[in-house]
Amino acid sequence: MIFHPPDFWDGRKILFGVSGGVAAYKSASVVSALVRGGAEVRVVMTRHAMKLVGRATFEALSGKPVYSRVFGEGGEIHHITAVRESDCVFVAPATANLLGKMAAGIADDLLSTLILVDEKKVVLAPAMNTGMWESTAVQENLIRLRERGIRVIEPAEGWLACRETGKGRMPDLEPLLEELYCLLHSPRLLEGKKALVISGPTREWLDPVRFLSNPSSGIMGGSFAGVLRAHGADVRMISGPVAGRQPVGIQVTEVETATEMAQAAEKFFPWCEICIMAAAVSDYRPVTCSPKKMKRGKSEEMTVTLAANPDILALLGARKGGRVLVGFCAETEEEALLTEGKRKLKEKNADCMVSNLVGGHGEGFGMVPVRGVLLDRFGNHVPIQGTDKFSLAETVVSRVASLLQ
Ligand SMILES: Cc1cc2nc3c(=O)[nH]c(=O)nc-3n(C[C@H](O)[C@H](O)[C@H](O)COP(=O)(O)O)c2cc1C
Repeated sequence: MIFHPPDFWDGRKILFGVSGGVAAYKSASVVSALVRGGAEVRVVMTRHAMKLVGRATFEALSGKPVYSRVFGEGGEIHHITAVRESDCVFVAPATANLLGKMAAGIADDLLSTLILVDEKKVVLAPAMNTGMWESTAVQENLIRLRERGIRVIEPAEGWLACRETGKGRMPDLEPLLEELYCLLHSPRLLEGKKALVISGPTREWLDPVRFLSNPSSGIMGGSFAGVLRAHGADVRMISGPVAGRQPVGIQVTEVETATEMAQAAEKFFPWCEICIMAAAVSDYRPVTCSPKKMKRGKSEEMTVTLAANPDILALLGARKGGRVLVGFCAETEEEALLTEGKRKLKEKNADCMVSNLVGGHGEGFGMVPVRGVLLDRFGNHVPIQGTDKFSLAETVVSRVASLLQ
Protein backbone atom coordinates (compact mmCIF):
# COMPACT_ATOMS: atom_id res chain seq x y z
CA MET A 1 0.00 0.00 0.00
CA ILE A 2 1.46 3.36 -1.05
CA PHE A 3 -0.09 6.41 0.58
CA HIS A 4 -0.29 8.68 -2.40
CA PRO A 5 -2.95 9.19 -5.10
CA PRO A 6 -2.85 6.38 -7.69
CA ASP A 7 -2.61 8.86 -10.58
CA PHE A 8 0.06 11.10 -9.02
CA TRP A 9 2.85 10.09 -11.43
CA ASP A 10 0.70 10.14 -14.53
CA GLY A 11 2.36 12.33 -17.19
CA ARG A 12 5.20 13.53 -14.92
CA LYS A 13 8.59 13.87 -16.57
CA ILE A 14 11.32 12.59 -14.31
CA LEU A 15 15.04 12.74 -14.99
CA PHE A 16 16.28 9.88 -12.84
CA GLY A 17 19.94 9.97 -11.77
CA VAL A 18 21.68 6.82 -10.55
CA SER A 19 25.12 7.20 -8.97
CA GLY A 20 27.54 4.51 -7.87
CA GLY A 21 26.02 3.22 -4.63
CA VAL A 22 25.16 -0.40 -4.03
CA ALA A 23 21.49 0.64 -3.67
CA ALA A 24 21.49 1.21 -7.46
CA TYR A 25 19.86 -2.23 -7.78
CA LYS A 26 16.85 -0.92 -5.83
CA SER A 27 16.52 2.03 -8.22
CA ALA A 28 15.46 -0.38 -10.93
CA SER A 29 12.23 -1.12 -9.04
CA VAL A 30 11.71 2.60 -8.40
CA VAL A 31 12.00 3.36 -12.13
CA SER A 32 9.67 0.47 -12.88
CA ALA A 33 7.03 1.75 -10.39
CA LEU A 34 7.22 5.30 -11.75
CA VAL A 35 6.80 4.07 -15.33
CA ARG A 36 3.90 1.85 -14.27
CA GLY A 37 2.36 4.93 -12.61
CA GLY A 38 2.43 6.74 -15.97
CA ALA A 39 5.62 8.82 -15.54
CA GLU A 40 8.01 9.46 -18.40
CA VAL A 41 11.40 8.51 -16.96
CA ARG A 42 14.80 9.22 -18.50
CA VAL A 43 17.73 7.62 -16.69
CA VAL A 44 21.20 9.13 -16.36
CA MET A 45 23.88 6.94 -14.79
CA THR A 46 27.37 7.67 -13.56
CA ARG A 47 30.29 5.53 -14.73
CA HIS A 48 30.48 3.88 -11.31
CA ALA A 49 26.72 3.19 -11.22
CA MET A 50 27.14 1.17 -14.42
CA LYS A 51 29.72 -1.03 -12.67
CA LEU A 52 26.99 -2.01 -10.19
CA VAL A 53 23.92 -2.33 -12.48
CA GLY A 54 23.90 -2.61 -16.26
CA ARG A 55 22.40 0.19 -18.31
CA ALA A 56 20.32 -2.38 -20.22
CA THR A 57 18.19 -2.93 -17.09
CA PHE A 58 17.25 0.75 -16.91
CA GLU A 59 16.78 0.95 -20.69
CA ALA A 60 14.34 -1.95 -20.55
CA LEU A 61 12.43 -0.51 -17.58
CA SER A 62 12.27 3.10 -18.79
CA GLY A 63 11.83 2.20 -22.45
CA LYS A 64 14.40 4.89 -23.34
CA PRO A 65 18.16 5.08 -23.88
CA VAL A 66 20.24 5.56 -20.73
CA TYR A 67 22.68 8.47 -20.85
CA SER A 68 26.01 8.70 -19.05
CA ARG A 69 28.41 10.97 -20.90
CA VAL A 70 28.45 14.66 -21.78
CA PHE A 71 30.42 14.07 -25.00
CA GLY A 72 30.94 11.35 -27.53
CA GLU A 73 27.84 9.22 -27.17
CA GLY A 74 25.70 8.57 -30.19
CA GLY A 75 22.39 10.45 -29.74
CA GLU A 76 23.62 12.21 -26.61
CA ILE A 77 21.19 14.03 -24.36
CA HIS A 78 21.50 17.80 -24.23
CA HIS A 79 21.99 18.48 -20.54
CA ILE A 80 20.28 21.89 -20.41
CA THR A 81 17.25 20.86 -22.49
CA ALA A 82 16.86 17.59 -20.59
CA VAL A 83 16.49 19.43 -17.28
CA ARG A 84 14.28 22.18 -18.69
CA GLU A 85 11.91 19.52 -20.08
CA SER A 86 11.69 17.63 -16.77
CA ASP A 87 9.45 18.23 -13.77
CA CYS A 88 12.01 16.77 -11.39
CA VAL A 89 15.61 15.55 -11.24
CA PHE A 90 15.55 12.66 -8.79
CA VAL A 91 18.87 11.06 -7.81
CA ALA A 92 18.62 7.68 -6.08
CA PRO A 93 21.01 6.60 -4.78
CA ALA A 94 23.09 9.75 -4.35
CA THR A 95 26.64 8.81 -3.31
CA ALA A 96 28.85 10.64 -0.82
CA ASN A 97 30.99 11.53 -3.81
CA LEU A 98 28.06 13.12 -5.65
CA LEU A 99 27.02 15.13 -2.57
CA GLY A 100 30.60 16.41 -2.27
CA LYS A 101 30.75 17.39 -5.93
CA MET A 102 27.39 19.14 -5.71
CA ALA A 103 28.38 21.05 -2.58
CA ALA A 104 31.47 22.32 -4.39
CA GLY A 105 29.67 22.92 -7.71
CA ILE A 106 31.79 20.41 -9.62
CA ALA A 107 30.30 19.27 -12.93
CA ASP A 108 32.70 16.64 -14.28
CA ASP A 109 30.23 14.11 -15.69
CA LEU A 110 26.73 14.17 -17.14
CA LEU A 111 24.80 13.68 -13.88
CA SER A 112 26.70 16.32 -11.87
CA THR A 113 26.37 18.71 -14.83
CA LEU A 114 22.61 18.19 -15.13
CA ILE A 115 22.09 18.79 -11.44
CA LEU A 116 23.62 22.26 -11.64
CA VAL A 117 21.23 23.41 -14.36
CA ASP A 118 18.29 23.89 -11.98
CA GLU A 119 18.82 22.93 -8.36
CA LYS A 120 15.18 23.73 -7.49
CA LYS A 121 14.14 20.62 -9.42
CA VAL A 122 16.58 18.32 -7.62
CA VAL A 123 15.59 15.73 -5.01
CA LEU A 124 18.33 13.51 -3.56
CA ALA A 125 18.07 10.13 -1.87
CA PRO A 126 21.54 9.64 -0.37
CA ALA A 127 22.57 6.10 0.55
CA MET A 128 25.85 4.92 1.99
CA ASN A 129 27.57 3.14 4.86
CA THR A 130 26.73 4.62 8.30
CA GLY A 131 30.29 5.78 8.89
CA MET A 132 30.29 7.65 5.60
CA TRP A 133 26.83 9.12 6.32
CA GLU A 134 27.89 10.35 9.77
CA SER A 135 31.22 11.74 8.56
CA THR A 136 31.76 15.45 9.08
CA ALA A 137 32.41 15.89 5.36
CA VAL A 138 29.07 14.39 4.30
CA GLN A 139 27.08 16.17 7.03
CA GLU A 140 28.69 19.52 6.19
CA ASN A 141 27.96 18.99 2.50
CA LEU A 142 24.32 18.20 3.31
CA ILE A 143 23.99 21.41 5.33
CA ARG A 144 25.32 23.39 2.35
CA LEU A 145 23.00 21.61 -0.08
CA ARG A 146 19.94 22.12 2.13
CA GLU A 147 20.84 25.79 2.60
CA ARG A 148 20.71 26.09 -1.19
CA GLY A 149 17.16 24.67 -1.12
CA ILE A 150 18.04 21.21 -2.42
CA ARG A 151 15.56 18.65 -1.12
CA VAL A 152 16.95 15.55 0.54
CA ILE A 153 15.16 12.33 1.51
CA GLU A 154 16.78 11.00 4.69
CA PRO A 155 18.21 7.49 4.43
CA ALA A 156 16.58 4.76 6.49
CA GLU A 157 18.12 2.72 9.30
CA GLY A 158 18.69 -1.01 9.05
CA TRP A 159 20.79 -3.70 7.44
CA LEU A 160 23.43 -2.38 5.05
CA ALA A 161 25.16 -4.17 2.20
CA CYS A 162 28.48 -3.81 4.07
CA ARG A 163 26.99 -6.24 6.67
CA GLU A 164 26.56 -3.54 9.28
CA THR A 165 23.38 -2.12 10.78
CA GLY A 166 22.78 1.61 10.98
CA LYS A 167 21.56 4.69 9.14
CA GLY A 168 22.37 4.89 5.45
CA ARG A 169 19.99 2.54 3.61
CA MET A 170 18.07 3.87 0.67
CA PRO A 171 14.41 3.75 1.85
CA ASP A 172 12.33 0.89 0.46
CA LEU A 173 10.18 1.46 -2.60
CA GLU A 174 6.90 2.47 -0.94
CA PRO A 175 8.28 4.91 1.66
CA LEU A 176 10.65 6.36 -0.95
CA LEU A 177 7.82 7.08 -3.38
CA GLU A 178 5.70 8.56 -0.57
CA GLU A 179 8.54 10.90 0.40
CA LEU A 180 9.01 11.94 -3.23
CA TYR A 181 5.24 12.51 -3.57
CA CYS A 182 5.28 14.75 -0.47
CA LEU A 183 8.20 16.79 -1.79
CA LEU A 184 6.72 17.23 -5.26
CA HIS A 185 3.14 17.88 -4.17
CA SER A 186 1.73 21.25 -5.09
CA PRO A 187 0.00 23.33 -3.79
CA ARG A 188 1.09 23.26 -0.16
CA LEU A 189 -1.94 24.82 1.46
CA LEU A 190 -1.16 23.87 5.08
CA GLU A 191 2.55 24.71 5.44
CA GLY A 192 3.43 24.62 9.15
CA LYS A 193 -0.12 23.76 10.33
CA LYS A 194 -0.62 21.00 12.91
CA ALA A 195 -3.04 18.25 11.97
CA LEU A 196 -4.34 15.34 14.03
CA VAL A 197 -5.82 12.32 12.25
CA ILE A 198 -7.76 9.73 14.25
CA SER A 199 -8.03 6.51 12.29
CA GLY A 200 -8.79 2.81 12.19
CA PRO A 201 -11.16 0.56 14.16
CA THR A 202 -11.34 -0.01 17.90
CA ARG A 203 -11.45 -3.35 19.69
CA GLU A 204 -13.73 -3.97 22.64
CA TRP A 205 -12.68 -7.13 24.42
CA LEU A 206 -15.11 -9.76 25.66
CA ASP A 207 -12.41 -12.08 26.96
CA PRO A 208 -8.64 -12.51 26.30
CA VAL A 209 -9.24 -13.87 22.77
CA ARG A 210 -12.46 -12.22 21.48
CA PHE A 211 -13.47 -8.67 20.74
CA LEU A 212 -16.18 -6.55 19.08
CA SER A 213 -14.85 -4.54 16.16
CA ASN A 214 -15.50 -3.61 12.49
CA PRO A 215 -13.65 -3.98 9.15
CA SER A 216 -12.06 -0.48 9.14
CA SER A 217 -8.65 -0.77 7.43
CA GLY A 218 -7.26 2.64 8.39
CA ILE A 219 -6.77 3.49 4.70
CA MET A 220 -9.07 6.52 4.87
CA GLY A 221 -7.16 7.94 7.86
CA GLY A 222 -3.81 7.02 6.25
CA SER A 223 -4.84 8.77 3.03
CA PHE A 224 -5.70 11.90 5.01
CA ALA A 225 -2.39 11.76 6.87
CA GLY A 226 -0.46 11.41 3.58
CA VAL A 227 -2.35 14.23 1.86
CA LEU A 228 -2.09 16.58 4.87
CA ARG A 229 1.67 16.00 5.02
CA ALA A 230 1.98 16.57 1.28
CA HIS A 231 0.28 19.94 1.85
CA GLY A 232 3.07 20.81 4.32
CA ALA A 233 1.24 20.05 7.58
CA ASP A 234 2.90 18.55 10.64
CA VAL A 235 0.77 15.41 11.08
CA ARG A 236 0.16 13.20 14.09
CA MET A 237 -2.03 10.13 14.07
CA ILE A 238 -3.96 8.17 16.66
CA SER A 239 -4.69 4.76 15.21
CA GLY A 240 -6.63 1.71 16.22
CA PRO A 241 -5.21 -1.71 15.23
CA VAL A 242 -4.65 -1.95 11.46
CA ALA A 243 -2.93 -4.65 9.43
CA GLY A 244 -0.90 -2.47 7.06
CA ARG A 245 1.85 0.06 7.69
CA GLN A 246 1.16 3.74 8.27
CA PRO A 247 2.28 6.51 5.88
CA VAL A 248 5.87 7.76 6.27
CA GLY A 249 6.80 10.80 8.31
CA ILE A 250 3.86 10.61 10.70
CA GLN A 251 4.05 10.14 14.47
CA VAL A 252 1.55 7.45 15.38
CA THR A 253 0.02 6.75 18.80
CA GLU A 254 -1.41 3.23 18.73
CA VAL A 255 -4.54 2.50 20.74
CA GLU A 256 -6.93 -0.42 20.98
CA THR A 257 -10.18 0.49 22.69
CA ALA A 258 -12.52 3.45 22.27
CA THR A 259 -11.66 4.56 25.81
CA GLU A 260 -7.93 4.61 24.95
CA MET A 261 -8.68 6.43 21.69
CA ALA A 262 -10.73 9.06 23.55
CA GLN A 263 -7.91 9.56 26.09
CA ALA A 264 -5.31 9.99 23.31
CA ALA A 265 -7.65 12.34 21.40
CA GLU A 266 -8.10 14.53 24.49
CA LYS A 267 -4.33 14.57 24.99
CA PHE A 268 -3.39 15.64 21.45
CA PHE A 269 -6.41 17.76 20.48
CA PRO A 270 -5.08 20.94 22.18
CA TRP A 271 -1.90 20.61 20.03
CA CYS A 272 -3.68 20.64 16.66
CA GLU A 273 -5.28 23.23 14.41
CA ILE A 274 -7.00 20.65 12.20
CA CYS A 275 -8.55 17.36 13.33
CA ILE A 276 -9.81 14.63 11.03
CA MET A 277 -11.87 12.12 12.96
CA ALA A 278 -11.92 9.19 10.51
CA ALA A 279 -11.86 6.35 13.05
CA ALA A 280 -14.58 3.69 13.14
CA VAL A 281 -15.21 3.67 16.88
CA SER A 282 -17.32 0.98 18.52
CA ASP A 283 -20.30 2.74 20.03
CA TYR A 284 -20.53 0.16 22.83
CA ARG A 285 -18.21 -2.09 24.81
CA PRO A 286 -18.91 -5.13 26.98
CA VAL A 287 -19.53 -4.04 30.56
CA THR A 288 -17.17 -6.75 31.75
CA CYS A 289 -14.22 -8.44 30.10
CA SER A 290 -13.78 -11.99 31.32
CA PRO A 291 -10.19 -12.56 32.55
CA LYS A 292 -10.38 -16.15 31.22
CA LYS A 293 -11.54 -17.48 27.86
CA MET A 294 -15.33 -17.81 27.97
CA LYS A 295 -16.42 -21.44 27.53
CA ARG A 296 -19.22 -22.59 25.31
CA GLY A 297 -22.17 -23.37 27.60
CA LYS A 298 -25.18 -25.62 27.11
CA SER A 299 -27.51 -22.70 26.33
CA GLU A 300 -28.33 -21.85 22.69
CA GLU A 301 -28.21 -18.14 23.51
CA MET A 302 -25.85 -15.80 25.25
CA THR A 303 -26.49 -12.27 26.44
CA VAL A 304 -23.75 -9.66 26.62
CA THR A 305 -24.46 -6.38 28.39
CA LEU A 306 -22.90 -3.40 26.68
CA ALA A 307 -22.05 0.06 27.96
CA ALA A 308 -21.83 3.17 25.79
CA ASN A 309 -18.35 4.29 24.73
CA PRO A 310 -17.31 7.94 24.73
CA ASP A 311 -18.55 9.86 21.68
CA ILE A 312 -15.12 11.12 20.60
CA LEU A 313 -16.31 13.46 17.83
CA ALA A 314 -18.83 15.11 20.19
CA LEU A 315 -16.15 15.44 22.90
CA LEU A 316 -13.80 17.19 20.47
CA GLY A 317 -16.60 19.33 19.00
CA ALA A 318 -17.44 20.60 22.48
CA ARG A 319 -13.93 21.98 22.91
CA LYS A 320 -13.22 22.91 19.29
CA GLY A 321 -12.24 26.57 19.72
CA GLY A 322 -10.78 27.91 16.46
CA ARG A 323 -9.84 24.46 15.13
CA VAL A 324 -11.28 22.89 12.00
CA LEU A 325 -12.93 19.57 12.83
CA VAL A 326 -13.88 17.01 10.19
CA GLY A 327 -16.09 14.04 11.08
CA PHE A 328 -17.27 10.93 9.30
CA CYS A 329 -20.66 9.34 9.45
CA ALA A 330 -21.19 5.85 8.09
CA GLU A 331 -24.64 4.99 6.79
CA THR A 332 -26.06 1.79 5.32
CA GLU A 333 -28.99 3.52 3.60
CA GLU A 334 -28.54 5.96 0.75
CA GLU A 335 -31.57 8.04 1.83
CA ALA A 336 -30.02 8.66 5.27
CA LEU A 337 -26.75 10.12 3.92
CA LEU A 338 -27.87 13.73 3.78
CA THR A 339 -30.21 13.86 6.75
CA GLU A 340 -27.84 12.01 9.09
CA GLY A 341 -24.85 13.99 7.79
CA LYS A 342 -26.65 17.27 8.54
CA ARG A 343 -27.77 16.09 11.96
CA LYS A 344 -24.33 14.88 13.00
CA LEU A 345 -22.57 17.95 11.60
CA LYS A 346 -24.71 20.14 13.85
CA GLU A 347 -24.90 17.91 16.92
CA LYS A 348 -21.16 17.26 17.02
CA ASN A 349 -20.24 20.88 16.24
CA ALA A 350 -18.05 19.76 13.30
CA ASP A 351 -17.02 21.95 10.34
CA CYS A 352 -17.19 19.24 7.68
CA MET A 353 -18.84 15.86 7.61
CA VAL A 354 -18.21 13.02 5.19
CA SER A 355 -21.41 11.00 5.18
CA ASN A 356 -20.58 7.77 3.37
CA LEU A 357 -22.15 4.46 2.48
CA VAL A 358 -20.91 1.32 4.21
CA GLY A 359 -22.00 -2.28 4.36
CA GLY A 360 -23.20 -4.44 1.53
CA HIS A 361 -20.22 -6.28 0.09
CA GLY A 362 -17.51 -4.51 2.03
CA GLU A 363 -18.56 -1.12 0.69
CA GLY A 364 -16.76 1.74 2.39
CA PHE A 365 -13.96 -0.38 3.91
CA GLY A 366 -10.45 -0.95 2.53
CA MET A 367 -9.13 0.35 -0.79
CA VAL A 368 -12.56 0.90 -2.35
CA PRO A 369 -14.21 3.96 -3.87
CA VAL A 370 -16.26 6.13 -1.52
CA ARG A 371 -19.88 7.07 -2.19
CA GLY A 372 -21.72 9.63 -0.12
CA VAL A 373 -22.02 13.34 0.55
CA LEU A 374 -19.55 15.95 1.80
CA LEU A 375 -21.25 18.59 3.94
CA ASP A 376 -19.91 21.72 5.61
CA ARG A 377 -21.09 24.07 8.33
CA PHE A 378 -22.23 26.66 5.78
CA GLY A 379 -24.92 24.30 4.50
CA ASN A 380 -23.00 23.29 1.36
CA HIS A 381 -23.23 19.65 0.34
CA VAL A 382 -21.64 17.97 -2.65
CA PRO A 383 -22.05 14.35 -3.73
CA ILE A 384 -19.07 11.97 -3.55
CA GLN A 385 -19.62 9.64 -6.47
CA GLY A 386 -17.32 6.68 -6.16
CA THR A 387 -14.08 8.58 -5.67
CA ASP A 388 -10.86 6.99 -4.38
CA LYS A 389 -9.88 7.80 -0.79
CA PHE A 390 -6.91 10.01 -1.77
CA SER A 391 -9.02 12.18 -4.07
CA LEU A 392 -11.61 12.48 -1.32
CA ALA A 393 -8.88 13.47 1.16
CA GLU A 394 -7.59 16.09 -1.35
CA THR A 395 -11.09 17.56 -1.72
CA VAL A 396 -11.67 17.69 2.04
CA VAL A 397 -8.19 19.11 2.75
CA SER A 398 -8.77 21.94 0.23
CA ARG A 399 -12.06 22.70 2.01
CA VAL A 400 -10.28 22.62 5.40
CA ALA A 401 -7.63 25.06 4.10
CA SER A 402 -10.32 27.51 3.00
CA LEU A 403 -12.13 27.17 6.37
CA LEU A 404 -8.89 27.96 8.20
CA GLN A 405 -8.50 31.31 6.46
C1 LIG B 1 30.47 -2.35 -4.30
C2 LIG B 1 30.51 -0.88 -4.02
C3 LIG B 1 29.47 -0.29 -3.38
C4 LIG B 1 29.47 1.07 -3.10
N1 LIG B 1 28.41 1.62 -2.45
C5 LIG B 1 28.42 2.94 -2.15
C6 LIG B 1 27.30 3.52 -1.50
O1 LIG B 1 26.31 2.86 -1.16
N2 LIG B 1 27.32 4.85 -1.26
C7 LIG B 1 28.39 5.63 -1.63
O2 LIG B 1 28.36 6.84 -1.37
N3 LIG B 1 29.47 5.09 -2.24
C8 LIG B 1 29.51 3.77 -2.54
N4 LIG B 1 30.58 3.22 -3.16
C9 LIG B 1 31.69 4.08 -3.55
C10 LIG B 1 31.39 4.86 -4.81
O3 LIG B 1 31.10 3.98 -5.87
C11 LIG B 1 32.56 5.75 -5.16
O4 LIG B 1 32.68 6.78 -4.17
C12 LIG B 1 32.45 6.36 -6.53
O5 LIG B 1 33.51 7.26 -6.72
C13 LIG B 1 31.15 7.09 -6.71
O6 LIG B 1 31.09 7.64 -8.00
P1 LIG B 1 29.82 8.41 -8.55
O7 LIG B 1 29.34 9.31 -7.46
O8 LIG B 1 30.30 9.17 -9.74
O9 LIG B 1 28.84 7.39 -8.96
C14 LIG B 1 30.60 1.86 -3.47
C15 LIG B 1 31.64 1.23 -4.13
C16 LIG B 1 31.62 -0.11 -4.40
C17 LIG B 1 32.78 -0.72 -5.10
